Amino acid sequence: MTQIEQTARARKTLKLLGNPAAPAPATGLSRETVEALVAAAGWAPFHRPAHRAREGTDPVVEPWRFTMLDAPGCRALLPRLSEIPKPPGKIADMLAVADALILVTWLPEPSEESWQATDFNMEHIAAGSAAIQTLLLAATERGIGNYWSSGGCLGTTEAFALLGIDPTDILLGAIFLFPDPPANAEAVPGKMREKRSHPGAWSRWVTPT
Ligand SMILES: Cc1cc2nc3c(=O)[nH]c(=O)nc-3n(C[C@H](O)[C@H](O)[C@H](O)COP(=O)(O)O)c2cc1C
Repeated sequence: MTQIEQTARARKTLKLLGNPAAPAPATGLSRETVEALVAAAGWAPFHRPAHRAREGTDPVVEPWRFTMLDAPGCRALLPRLSEIPKPPGKIADMLAVADALILVTWLPEPSEESWQATDFNMEHIAAGSAAIQTLLLAATERGIGNYWSSGGCLGTTEAFALLGIDPTDILLGAIFLFPDPPANAEAVPGKMREKRSHPGAWSRWVTPT
């Protein structure tokens, strides 16, 4: 088995739930390491420049944006969650123990009405998802526990305003990076982890006749 095949199998959801009333100290995951993971993510394929680049309002062509919080940033966000109308649920428990949170947003086309906008949006989401998976694989290879959450309250306009994220972006994933081993935190696996089918159940060869 190749290295990437081993890493793909080893990647797994790790949700660590801490105590928002007694947040955990940071364990020393450096900004440089997070930036290395983000740089790896940036090698994901993407097909179309984001509309802002096509229009000339933003020179950055990638259809994704990464907004990063280190451990102090995660802890600082905890008391600010009360400013977000959507209930935080487990997001607060994870912010209490995470070493980093990376909010990955994608840049939708301004209009959904044309076939082009629909096609481009599908490609933007696909590209952003590939970037996230690359980040998760890079984290896995470094032994950093990771979790791709849809983000709940972090995808709201109030959360975006708090973190300076463009209000037209859409949250694709809230990626939590966790210390390993867990310190005074409950570890929860992904609920679909053990439900995987054999590849033969969802893949097939075809030969047109
Ligand atoms: C787009 C996306 C969104 C996800 N959002 C959530 C979420 O909000 N809550 C959650 O518990 N797990 C979420 N997950 C993680 C999945 O539950 C997890 O990947 C699945 O259970 C398989 O487990 P594994 O990652 O260990 O293989 C999400 C995964 C993806 C790809």
